[in-house]
Amino acid sequence: FLPSSASSDSFLQCLSTVIPSNLVFTQSSSSFTSVLQSSVQNPKFITNTTVRPLCIVTASDVSHVQSAVRCGRANGVRLRVRSGGHDYEGLSYRSVQPEVFAVVDLARLRGVHLNPGEASAWVDAGTTLGELYYAIGTTNPGFLFPGGACATVGVSGFISGGGIGIMMRKYGVGGDNVLDAKIVNANGDLLDRAAMGEDVFWAIRGGGGESFGIVVAWRLKLSPVPPIVTVVNTIRTMEQGVVDLVAKWESTILSPLNVPDLTIRVVLQNTVAIFQTLYLGRCTDLLNTLRNVFPELGMTAADCNELTWLRAMAFVYFGNTNTPVEGLLNRTNNVGDHYFKATSDYVRRAVGSAGWSSLYQQWLSKNGNGQMILEPHGGAVGGANTNTTSPYPHRRGVLFNIQYGSNWCCDANGTMAAAGLAWLKGIYGFMEPFVTSNPREAFANYRDLDLGQNVIGKDGLSSYWSGRVWAERYFMGNYRRLAAAKAMADPTDYFRNEQSIPPLPK
Ligand code: FDA
Repeated sequence: FLPSSASSDSFLQCLSTVIPSNLVFTQSSSSFTSVLQSSVQNPKFITNTTVRPLCIVTASDVSHVQSAVRCGRANGVRLRVRSGGHDYEGLSYRSVQPEVFAVVDLARLRGVHLNPGEASAWVDAGTTLGELYYAIGTTNPGFLFPGGACATVGVSGFISGGGIGIMMRKYGVGGDNVLDAKIVNANGDLLDRAAMGEDVFWAIRGGGGESFGIVVAWRLKLSPVPPIVTVVNTIRTMEQGVVDLVAKWESTILSPLNVPDLTIRVVLQNTVAIFQTLYLGRCTDLLNTLRNVFPELGMTAADCNELTWLRAMAFVYFGNTNTPVEGLLNRTNNVGDHYFKATSDYVRRAVGSAGWSSLYQQWLSKNGNGQMILEPHGGAVGGANTNTTSPYPHRRGVLFNIQYGSNWCCDANGTMAAAGLAWLKGIYGFMEPFVTSNPREAFANYRDLDLGQNVIGKDGLSSYWSGRVWAERYFMGNYRRLAAAKAMADPTDYFRNEQSIPPLPK
C-alpha cells in the first residue's frame, strides 16, 4: 500500500478542493514541523529518520474529517488520527514502515457541551482530559468523569484504549462511561451509536485507537461526586519501611481495602514510594477508614487536602494546591529532552515483601529516573460481569496494573538510550515470576511495539493470526470479538497501524 507520487498529488489536490488551505500543512509548508510537533510527547519520534506524514489536516469541522477520509480512500492514502498526541509509540503521527500517509489532527475539534445538573456531556474528540475536567468542574460541579491523572492526554486516545485512572474503582474505566459516540467510517459517513451498531460501539470503547474509524465526538456519562474530596501525597523512604508498606498496600486492595471511594495509587522511584490517595469524601472519613485497614501508612489530618473535585484533579496532575485549575487547560507540551519508553504488567497475586525488597535493591535504586506506577483495581472495575462491559479485560481478580517507565536525556539512540532501555528490559524480566502469564497481560494504552506488530497478509489485510501475539495480551478473550467488529466496521482494513485490530477472516 505505497501510493505513487501521482496518487499523493491527487490526494493533496482532492483535499485542496474540499478543505480550506489554511487547515492543511504539507511537508513544504513553513509551519509543518511546528504543527507536527505540537502535541508530541516523546522527542524519540521526531528525529530526522522518523517516517513523517505527507500532510497534516487540522480539522476544525467534522466535514473536514469526512472529506479527508474520502480523499484518502479515493487515492489510496491512509490516514492516522491524532487527538492528544500521547501515544507511547507515536503511532498517531508517525509510521514505523516507510509508507505514505496523512495525519488528521483533531486538536481544533474540541469542546465540551454540557448543562448544569445533567449526568452526561457531548465531548468533541480533540478535547483533552484537563479541558474536560475544567468544563465539568466549572459548569457542572457535583459530577465527575473517571479519567486519568495526566491532563494533556486526549479524551479520545484515553477511551479508545480503555482508560484507567484514580476514580475507576468507583465508576469503572473510561470506556465503561460512554453512552454514545459519533464516528466517521471508511466511506466517510458519519455514524452514531444506533447507526454503527452495538458491536462497533462496544469495540471503540477500549479496543484500541485507529482501528474502527475516526471518532469525532463522545457522549460521556458523568457520575456524582461530593462537594469536597480529599487528596494526599504521602512519601515514604527505605528508612521509613517502604518495602513493608508497599507489601501491606497490595494485600489490602481487594480486601479489606476494597472501598471504592478510596484509591491509593503508588509511584515507586529510586528508594522511595509516593502513595497518592484520592478519597471521595472528607478527611475524617478517610482517616477512619485507613485506621482500620492501613494504619501503617501513618496518614494524619495535617496531610489532607480537602478540595473540590476539580481542584483535586489539578492536585493529582501538578502535585500541589497552588497551581490554578486553569492550568488544566494548557495543552502545550514542553517535552524538551525527556525521552522515554514504557511497558506494563498486571498482578493478580501479591508480590510480597521479599519481592519488593529485591526490586528496590536490584532495580529501582539503580536507576534514579526509572519508575513503576501501580494502579489499584478492584471496586467497580473488577466487579462480577464487567469483563465485557467494554473491551478492557483486566478486571476480576486483578490487584493492580504496573507501568514501568524509563526516562533519559538526551538522545534517541545513543548510550543514554541504550542504558535506559536495558534497565527497562531488566526490570521487566525480573518481574516475570510475579505477574500474569499465558498471556502476560499488558495495557493497550501503554502501547509497546516490542510486544509485537501487525503483519500484512497476502490479501493485503493485517493478519488476525499474527495479531494474536500482541493483541491477546492487551485484550485477552475479547480479541476475537474486536476482530469481528473490525470486519464489520472496516473490512478493507483502511484504518490501520502497527497495532490496530485486524479484521476477523471469513
Ligand atoms: P494520540 O492522539 O496519540 O492517540 C492515541 C491512539 O489513539 C492512536 O493510535 C490514535 O491514532 C488513536 N486515536 C486518537 N484519536 C482518535 C480518534 N478520535 N478516533 C480514533 N482513534 C483515535 N492512560 C490511561 O489510561 N491512564 C492514565 O492515567 C494515563 N496517563 C498518561 C500519562 C502520560 C504522560 C502519557 C504520555 C500517557 C498516559 N496514558 C494514560 C496513556 C494514554 O491514555 C494513551 O497514550 C492514549 O492513547 C493517548 O491518547 P491521545 O489522544 O493523547 O493520543
